[in-house]
Amino acid sequence: MSRSRTIDTPDIEGSSASEPASRKHVLDLDDFSQEEISAVLDSARSMKEVLGRDIKKVPALRGKVVVTLFYEASTRTRISFEEAGKVLSADVINMSSSGSSAEKGESLLNTGLTIQAMGVDTIVIRHPHSGAPYLLAQQLDKVSIINAGDGLHAHPTQALLDLYTVRDKLGSLEGCKIVIVGDVLHSRVARSDIWGFAKMGAKVVLSGPNTLMPPDLIRSNNNIARSAFASLVEVDTNLDRAIEGADVVMALRLQQERQHAGFLPSLREYIRRWQVTDERMARANPGAMVMHPGPMNEGIEISNSIAHGGSSVIEEQVTNGVAIRMALLYKVTIGPAQQL
Ligand code: CP
Repeated sequence: MSRSRTIDTPDIEGSSASEPASRKHVLDLDDFSQEEISAVLDSARSMKEVLGRDIKKVPALRGKVVVTLFYEASTRTRISFEEAGKVLSADVINMSSSGSSAEKGESLLNTGLTIQAMGVDTIVIRHPHSGAPYLLAQQLDKVSIINAGDGLHAHPTQALLDLYTVRDKLGSLEGCKIVIVGDVLHSRVARSDIWGFAKMGAKVVLSGPNTLMPPDLIRSNNNIARSAFASLVEVDTNLDRAIEGADVVMALRLQQERQHAGFLPSLREYIRRWQVTDERMARANPGAMVMHPGPMNEGIEISNSIAHGGSSVIEEQVTNGVAIRMALLYKVTIGPAQQL
């Protein structure tokens, strides 16, 4: 259904007659179709228009309550969800495990049941344990769940903002070459990005030390490798070679807190072989963009000049994250736009 835009109401383009049926939870991108991803990106474009107004406020989620439930640190994801909810007029309540009854030993499930009993509509959860958002989605019947990052497993809202950023710049994701470099093994962002980019027809090349490539992917026995998208994902540990012809180079944070197990010969060696630098970007396609999900270790996985140079779209990723999270909060809390 086409809608005329008013001062109060975003024109949610993604909610056309072809938009897939409503969705209750956002857990990962493995159960999103290409059409549904496109609809979310279209919806986010309209949400971004709202963010560009002098008065960033629409009543779309008035009377709805969103809880952000963070058991791990976050800057971007947490603040952008809070901003997204507030721009849409939801009442947003932030809860950290620190200072909550989780510190007294309350289980995740009992915390979720307690929040549900307060009449909350949507819970946005980040948790160090893979699968935590799935537990809440299975056990809570009145609340929508959005995964804001679970363990090493998934970070679907980051992946959607990454897809949005690339599509916004290049017009289409089909046929693009995306190089994801660094600590793929420990990156939930990379796992969701692989699903998203491959589903949209982009080619994904993973690069970094062999020890930081996900062994399940290399051994070709995981569900991505068995999927129809497998031919679009490959590993090349030689970054100088992998980066040739790239349209996008995404550096991942080297998770130094996880490197005590001897994954790297040395930090100096890592920087020499896998840092995204001006010299390496010269091998990519002209106009290739540099991305990073943040937070960055400048001078380690990415050079200072690249992080803040003309090819960087890292701050645009952050801006687009607010729009994507608005689109997702709207989608799971209200549903398709024709219900507005
Ligand atoms: N990209 C990301 O998830 O950043 P935060 O940890 O700051 O939310």
